Amino acid sequence: MTQRIAILRELGLTPAWRERTPAPRGSVQATDDRSVAVENSPATVAEAARELSRDQCIASATWDELTHSIAKCTACKLHRTRHRTVPGVGDRAPTWMIVGEGPGEQEDQRGEPFVGAAGRLLDAMLAAIGKRRGHGVYITNVVKCRPPGNRNPEAEEIAACAPYLRRQIALAQPKLLLAVGKTAAQTLLNRDATVGALRGSTAQYETTPVQVTYHPSYLLRTPIDKAKAWADLLRALDIAP
Ligand code: URA
Repeated sequence: MTQRIAILRELGLTPAWRERTPAPRGSVQATDDRSVAVENSPATVAEAARELSRDQCIASATWDELTHSIAKCTACKLHRTRHRTVPGVGDRAPTWMIVGEGPGEQEDQRGEPFVGAAGRLLDAMLAAIGKRRGHGVYITNVVKCRPPGNRNPEAEEIAACAPYLRRQIALAQPKLLLAVGKTAAQTLLNRDATVGALRGSTAQYETTPVQVTYHPSYLLRTPIDKAKAWADLLRALDIAP
């Protein structure tokens, strides 16, 4: 505790001290109690201060600053293997914000989310309900750099990228978050459950409704579940037309 207070003082922050259960690493749940972030993350005071000031910069960034910051990011090992960063694309004042897992090979080449086979299915699903990327829709991912071989992003990678997603949501203020797939659902809702368990009811990220549905890549492999995804989209449309 002494160490945390020292860091906060050094950074000119007055802690609004509250004892509470810290959010797990990787959660994008908002933490205005910065002392919690400090306690959870880095091993050393210097690292803690660096990480805290990084989080503060991201938390007040404009859209363009965010894009720039993501392009320069070296906060996790994914930067070593990426070709392009993939911050997100679309309407910056959207009705829907769609959150996927992380860029695949084609996204990594083009710098745009969901441009491969899964993206084409996502576009078709959106078209079926009268929506289109870029028009009232913003699309992004939990991690902004491609995990090699399309593996799932690791907890540290999700944690390193979480401030970007948190800021994107704060800037966009969507009426609805559509979490596609387990990584997005678990990250946004801070819950360790399956898509099947999370999709049935509408949850919240802060005050924003979150509809969970299946990832388009999963639907390409398991077309029988497209009917459930369709029901999820209709529920989402009901919440935020
Ligand atoms: N899968 C994702 O989760 N995101 C992309 O951008 C592409 C594929």
